[in-house]
Amino acid sequence: MAKEIKTIGVLTSGGDAPGMNAAIRAIVRKAIGNGVNVKGIKKGYQGLLNEEIVDMEKKDVSDIIQRGGTILGTARCLEFKEENVQERAAEICREHGIDGIIVIGGDGSYRGAQALARHGINTIGIPGTIDLDIACTEYTIGFDTAINTAMQAIDKVRDTSSSHERCNIIEVMGRNAGYIALWCGVANGAEDILLPEKYDFNEQNIINNIITNRKRGKTHHIIVNAEGIGHSTSMARRIEAATGIETRATILGYMQRGGSPTCKDRFYASIMGSYAADILCEGKSNRVIGYRNGEFLDFDIEEALNMRKEIPEYQFRVSKVLSQ
Ligand code: ADP
Ligand code: F6P
Repeated sequence: MAKEIKTIGVLTSGGDAPGMNAAIRAIVRKAIGNGVNVKGIKKGYQGLLNEEIVDMEKKDVSDIIQRGGTILGTARCLEFKEENVQERAAEICREHGIDGIIVIGGDGSYRGAQALARHGINTIGIPGTIDLDIACTEYTIGFDTAINTAMQAIDKVRDTSSSHERCNIIEVMGRNAGYIALWCGVANGAEDILLPEKYDFNEQNIINNIITNRKRGKTHHIIVNAEGIGHSTSMARRIEAATGIETRATILGYMQRGGSPTCKDRFYASIMGSYAADILCEGKSNRVIGYRNGEFLDFDIEEALNMRKEIPEYQFRVSKVLSQ
């Protein structure tokens, strides 16, 4: 029989993402609506171990849906990988009367949730990362805001790139994943799009492309480079030396992870937060929420972590053709 859930906790873990607050708000309001108490756990698993735990009422999540970041704070807590630390965390949950926890974060955070579930605390994960690199879902909280922020920034760089007839390399976030680069590369009409999953490190191809485009009369050349490839500044120097065309690098960095969430991020985060609260209150555990083919679903954490995600081949081929 499913364990009776009287009190749940919510935490955000790993890199923050715009829309996390909308998810927190939805969890608090939906769970309280279901007759369940909610506690906020600050600063991810580190805050759980430090017992930074506060009661949350509906009013505590007023006026946050439009705010970037996470009101709970987030952290990386490497010691949470240790068995005895996980056991202590489960004990802390029991001491605070927490029957289950919703974890908003990425794959790493899901592993922590899985560990808590193994130690008797019900857990549900919600995909929160600007990188879109969670295999079981077509949507992750924060991606939409991040790509729109980056797209607007790249448009601005493109204006000055054209005025000065320069080549510009713009580095977007994504340590291991090229989804931000792919989407912005296409949406900004970039001439070259470099994805960690696909890049062959053949700079000569880029150089040839720049020279050909210049001969065809193009006044700018935008290269969207993913953080996972990096080295944008040295790449710019080499390209300038090889082409004779002034080349600049811009690293967009953390601006992509902040800011007010888009409507899509607020809406999807609200639905995912509500869904997670509902299934946790019903007594489900060891599940993660996903969005696929127009539907919100939940998966077993282990099954979700074993899924693989790749850059869709057709989208990649199209990005190549349209950039010419
Ligand atoms: P994300 O959740 O965005 O993938 P991280 O990989 O940095 O970000 O993970 C966030 C946190 O999740 C880590 O700092 C750690 O506290 C916890 N975590 C990561 N991997 C594990 C693991 N294998 N076992 C337990 N906890 C983990
Ligand atoms: O949130 C995802 C992400 O932005 C990655 O693209 C990036 O590599 C990473 O976080 C960097 O985060 P931090 O510098 O906070 O460790």
